[in-house]
Amino acid sequence: MYRSDTREKTVQMNEVTAQARSCLNCALGQTRKNVVIGSGSLDAKIVLVGEAPGRKEDESGLPFVGSAGKLLDGLLEAAGLVRDEIFIGNILKCRPPGNRRPKKSEVESCEGYLMRQLEIIKPKVIAPMGNSALAYFQSRHDIGGDVIGDAHGRVYEVETSWGKVKLMPLYHPAAAIYRRHLLGDLEKDMKKLAEL
Ligand code: URA
Repeated sequence: MYRSDTREKTVQMNEVTAQARSCLNCALGQTRKNVVIGSGSLDAKIVLVGEAPGRKEDESGLPFVGSAGKLLDGLLEAAGLVRDEIFIGNILKCRPPGNRRPKKSEVESCEGYLMRQLEIIKPKVIAPMGNSALAYFQSRHDIGGDVIGDAHGRVYEVETSWGKVKLMPLYHPAAAIYRRHLLGDLEKDMKKLAEL
């Protein structure tokens, strides 16, 4: 990767960030404290995609910094992945009040941002975490309609504007906070992801 490519990616991502920061496409623009655009390397080979910012993320403007984030950090470390070398983002860039599930209309209002981010980063592997993120990719690619409990840990090959990409769904880390038995699957899947 030439340095100029990385500079160009930074310029493009800054444009997406500026657009998102002034976005009022849906009502979440009225209640957010911060837009959470995502964080990590723009040259990342792996992009993890969560659902939407929670309270801590809304306050800080950074993804996965609350309790789900702490769990995610541990999983990444155990799998030998360095957080700064991957990219972590969300389907929604603004927090749904009370952390409710995103509405379909909110996902539709926000979808262009994630799409643009992926086109800029051009990852080789994308890991949707949880059912909402999985549904986002199912609606764009012909990968069936399995729920996360069946789809996690499977590798789907999809065609994108920047070439073939491996999609590997994971349980959402927050799911393992309350359902500890999912932790083993998450650990196993994260290691498999690192090996891809
Ligand atoms: N849950 C998510 O899906 N995303 C975050 O950024 C934090 C918690």
